[in-house]
Amino acid sequence: MKGDIGVIGLAVMGQNLILNMNDHGYKVVAHNRTAEKVDEFLQGPAKGTNIVGAYSLQELVDKLESPRKIMLMVRAGDVVDSFTDKLVPLLDKGDIIIDGGNTNFPDTNRRVAALKEKGIHFIGSGVSGGEEGARFGPSIMPGGSPEAWPFVKPIFQAISAKTENNEPCCDWVGNDGAGHFVKMVHNGIEYGDMQLITEAYQFMKDGLGMTHDEMQSVFIEWNKTELNSYLVEITSDILGYKDTDGEPLVEKILDTAGQKGTGKWTGINALDMGIPLTLITESVFARCLSSLKDQRVEAEELFGKKKSIVEGDKQVWIEALRQALLASKIISYAQGFMLMREASNENGWDLNYGNVALMWRGGCIIRSAFLSNIRDAYDIDPELSFLGSDSYFKGILENSTSAWRKVAAKSMEVGIPMPSMTSALTFLDGYTTARLPANLLQAQRDYFGAHTYERVDKPKGEFFHTNWTGKGGDVSSTTYNS
Ligand code: 6PG
Repeated sequence: MKGDIGVIGLAVMGQNLILNMNDHGYKVVAHNRTAEKVDEFLQGPAKGTNIVGAYSLQELVDKLESPRKIMLMVRAGDVVDSFTDKLVPLLDKGDIIIDGGNTNFPDTNRRVAALKEKGIHFIGSGVSGGEEGARFGPSIMPGGSPEAWPFVKPIFQAISAKTENNEPCCDWVGNDGAGHFVKMVHNGIEYGDMQLITEAYQFMKDGLGMTHDEMQSVFIEWNKTELNSYLVEITSDILGYKDTDGEPLVEKILDTAGQKGTGKWTGINALDMGIPLTLITESVFARCLSSLKDQRVEAEELFGKKKSIVEGDKQVWIEALRQALLASKIISYAQGFMLMREASNENGWDLNYGNVALMWRGGCIIRSAFLSNIRDAYDIDPELSFLGSDSYFKGILENSTSAWRKVAAKSMEVGIPMPSMTSALTFLDGYTTARLPANLLQAQRDYFGAHTYERVDKPKGEFFHTNWTGKGGDVSSTTYNS
């Protein structure tokens, strides 16, 4: 009997996905560039299963049922191109290559188009959930050649995480690089969620002077509220974790955040598309600032920074902080969905936002109860342009605004950096302001560069130039928007 699917790449994610597929009754053919890895896997975790090995790409191809489905679980970038180039001559028309890495979506756009010319289908799929997700149920976000989906769907939906109603956290996202785009936004939101939690932690630790056990209890309690999520849950575990000397391990970890690029790509795309994705972008910059460790140490001394003490009833502050975190999180997701909407319109992807929320409901790093409410919001209005306008989320934003402002103001007053929580509030203030000061900005542009402006008392699209000083000419520059 031939194999149902081949997987190339036996690092931890690849191995775990294969074992997961095997558990669901699929016969998997496993290949790795180095043969020893195949042997180690077959004699180790895969021992006693139906998994078979392949020591060359030809052997892998020969051992698969048609149309062949070959999933690459290798490092994003050149390695994907290199395997694809080697595979294509061995494949038949209608065969399917799947890239399950964290690929930048323009690469997937390119690969889908290039392989289409050769009659090969290409799927670029986000896979989220880390090691454990891959093994027991990840969130899977596939996009690319739609013709390939019916063949891949049963396997992917079987191995994916399931919601509380047993719906698979995997569905077709859209054409081209849509799957990888949605996974990129997932990761951007992951950056935002993590940053928000760390801001709350710093406020509690430095401002309120709380112990790690106290903070752990707070996160345990928060996890029973609308904030219920995987990231809040692991934060409580981390805060309670003691090093061998009995001290909290988290305080021994260098405060310099790493990043592999997906958050940055999300920010770059937002700038390219003109979407105010402020919270995620602040979260990426917060990681950049954290990496300037030596400079920060020097600057703290140079500026003689004072300790950031927050006076007042601790319990009241903790509740205010919870509300600020929740409201900021709503803004972050609202911005993320705005970005997806713009990308969907620009690329003709026809994204189903409710389905995206459903795919993120389980298995992935940002999984949370909250995503069910997002799904409900898009069920009510599939074209919702701002998540915060949905009645459920609007209610939370309105109820939390006063506490959110207090936390933001206090953080500024005592000098606790909270870039994501404060920028989220600023965004909401801007978004709910009918008249912003951009009229003055337009006047400045016209003053120094004759860039023209539109008038509130004239139809849109009619442009005016004023000779502000009497010295300039009447010639205006061309009006265009980037
Ligand atoms: C996931 C994660 C994963 C990502 C890590 C690390 O969905 O399982 O998003 O894909 O690689 O979270 O990302 P950074 O190194 O950029 O923090």
